[in-house]
Amino acid sequence: MSRRCRKSQIRGLIELSKYWNKLINDIEPYVAGEQPKPGQKVIKLNTNENPYPPSPKVKEALEKFDLADLRLYPDTNSTDVMKAAAMFDGVSGKNIFCGNGSDEVLAIAFQTFFEKKALTGLPVLMPDYSYSFYPVFSEFYDIRRKTIALKDDFRLNPDDYIGVPNCGIVFANPNAPTSRAIAVSDVERIVKANPDSVVIVDEAYVAFEKDYESAVSLIGKYGNVCVIRTLSKAFSLAGIRLGYAVASEELIEGLRRARDSFNSYPVDRLAQKVAEAALLDTGYYNETRAKIIATRERVIKELEGLGFTMPPSSANFVFAKPPVDCGKLYENLRTKGILVRYFNKPVLNEYLRITIGTDEEMDALISAIRQEV
Ligand SMILES: Cc1ncc(COP(=O)(O)O)c(C=O)c1O
Repeated sequence: MSRRCRKSQIRGLIELSKYWNKLINDIEPYVAGEQPKPGQKVIKLNTNENPYPPSPKVKEALEKFDLADLRLYPDTNSTDVMKAAAMFDGVSGKNIFCGNGSDEVLAIAFQTFFEKKALTGLPVLMPDYSYSFYPVFSEFYDIRRKTIALKDDFRLNPDDYIGVPNCGIVFANPNAPTSRAIAVSDVERIVKANPDSVVIVDEAYVAFEKDYESAVSLIGKYGNVCVIRTLSKAFSLAGIRLGYAVASEELIEGLRRARDSFNSYPVDRLAQKVAEAALLDTGYYNETRAKIIATRERVIKELEGLGFTMPPSSANFVFAKPPVDCGKLYENLRTKGILVRYFNKPVLNEYLRITIGTDEEMDALISAIRQEV
């Protein structure tokens, strides 16, 4: 097939090329939240980053870091991070697999546990409104998918994942962008009912539920659950790219086989030192997440007072429906230097996903919104 080179009118990017293969021509890649230009001053509430700095132990670890070590390849298994994560999650190091951000761990998990279309008629099951990387991964790795509607209140219904033939299941808990969580007992029902499939539970936001329970508690009992964690959110480390999986040894070994067929050194030496220090400082982790939870609860009340509606949030963001046109509000806030996330797709386009920042940032958001509603 001959293809022309075509540039998008809107984004100015090349969208089609005869030099790219069919998959790359056809795929609709994931679009990350807008990143401010270098030096641009904005209040950034659009990618669920943590507004507080990482633990002071991270600074100490960086100060102690011997630059000469950068000559050497890093430890392929990130053993020190594995041990710190194991301690954090109350499991053995053998149950941990580290990667370059949880996006990479998710990508490797899709390639390890889910089957290509050509080999199976079975789809991977995922919620209709969830992390938008999941459908992209399923396209990119040629895995059939079946999206399952969330309930009207945006919660996932475990019964919808029981008795449905599949080659795997993936969902975020709490879910994004909807901010809602289900109980670990409901996750367990899904895992138990699908013993021949791997169930990936993406816990990127789990730390923002007050007395949270993690599906990590299921891994001793079930060989088919893979919990994926990130240091980007609750540990304030989106900039170093560290995510990890917690699962049975059998699943972890599969992830290593996939990694070693692709990139055997995914986590660099600096990231390993930083991640280890952060994971060991649980006091700071708890302090930071408590501050974010308190700010979130206050912001929900203030937004409700301004006529917004939203589901209760278990995450470091709210999924809020404004009393005015959502797209216009998003643009007006952007003009005022406040970035929030707007998904221009049916249903989602009625809501803004707003990350919880510092109290000062949220006060600025509220007063900007007050001028718009
Ligand atoms: C549900 C969910 N999973 C995973 C990620 C990716 O996190 P990481 O920074 O570890 O790649 C995000 C990022 O926003 C997310 O929302």
